[in-house]
Amino acid sequence: MDTASPVWHPFTQHGLAPDSPMVVRGEGAWLELESGTRLLDAISSWWVITHGHCHPRIVAAIQEQAARLDQVIFAGFTHPPAEALARKLLSIVPPGLTHVFYSDSGSTAVEVALKMALGTWKNRGINRTRIIAMNHAYHGDTVGTMSAGARGVFNAAYAPLLFDVARIPFPETGREQRTLDMLDQHAKGAAALVVEPLICGAGGMRIYSPEILKAMADICARHGTILIADEVMTGFGRTGTLFACEQAGITPDIMALAKGLTGGSIPLAATLCKPYIFAAHFSTNRSHTFFHSSSFTANPIACAAASANLDLWSGEPVLERVSRLCTMQEQFLAAFRADPRFENVRRQGTITALDLKVDDPGYLAGLGPELTKFFYARGVLLRPLGNTIYVMPPYCITAEELAVLYAAVKDAAVQFA
Ligand SMILES: Cc1ncc(COP(=O)(O)O)c(C=O)c1O
Repeated sequence: MDTASPVWHPFTQHGLAPDSPMVVRGEGAWLELESGTRLLDAISSWWVITHGHCHPRIVAAIQEQAARLDQVIFAGFTHPPAEALARKLLSIVPPGLTHVFYSDSGSTAVEVALKMALGTWKNRGINRTRIIAMNHAYHGDTVGTMSAGARGVFNAAYAPLLFDVARIPFPETGREQRTLDMLDQHAKGAAALVVEPLICGAGGMRIYSPEILKAMADICARHGTILIADEVMTGFGRTGTLFACEQAGITPDIMALAKGLTGGSIPLAATLCKPYIFAAHFSTNRSHTFFHSSSFTANPIACAAASANLDLWSGEPVLERVSRLCTMQEQFLAAFRADPRFENVRRQGTITALDLKVDDPGYLAGLGPELTKFFYARGVLLRPLGNTIYVMPPYCITAEELAVLYAAVKDAAVQFA
């Protein structure tokens, strides 16, 4: 029970984990420890950092806003950063989304989306309450998002709190029709389908095609089922386009954003919706109000950071940087495609993933933490999901830096495969 620090860390078994390294600085793709050691941040600090750590324009926006208006209640009040950000966001997301609801994290963005969907049906006086979700999904750690996410060791203790959802299988290559058929069966009379577009992240970096996403959207539209796109991880360039939904040419009814919304600098989330979702809550009847809030809804400093982030996207060739990163990632993967110690070598936009062939690849088998330790010793922050090693770097990473980290991945195979 002895630990040097009173801090309880997320997804960390303190009975097994060593004391956490003290990180004191971040710049570009690098983190610096108290000891002076530098660590290459190959997972964008849990998938949030897009342009690089401490981007000067985002830092300046935070500093400026912090000195002007730090926080204000957002029920009954508004402020310039929230208004400006909403307008900027609506001008870059798939067309047809018209309203923005702010919250604080990816989990709350999806939780809000689920509540918007249920509220829409309730306010319309229609009894549609079933949520459909995909096997291997991850949508967060609040009760609603855990319910929609895959069940397993991560949420077994909380099962009494979770509600049932209808499941569709992940659309494995060659078995996509099964997914579409099951969705077709479940969608009739369901409230909403929630999906991670193009890639299930925490569920193992499982990739599916834009055509299947489009087919799922079409099925939802046919049944009037609300489509929720969880772009918390995929948003802001990760899949090669600004939003993953663009590749399927779809506009979801509700879209959840977080992580890269502020360039990863500070927590903020947004749940965007089509007019009919807002309209279902727009009424002189107070009971039709959208009943969700948190103290820091639309925090001005966070909104200013997000606004500065969007200015970077519009003012700098960020998408070209993303496209160059996609090409570099593909080039580095080539060597692994021919390496028999790896399988399922794959890429979705800027994200690569490869499975190390081992006897017991389960999450709890301890391989993930062992690999993490190995990479850490090599000066690289990678946090494999069991035997799945994935690379999701900030867009400023260079070919030389990628070479360092892929050399470490190759060496991991020598030790662990
Ligand atoms: C697809 C997806 N949705 C939701 C979340 C939850 O976001 P947060 O950790 O900010 O609550 C994550 C986090 O990894 C995610 O990948």
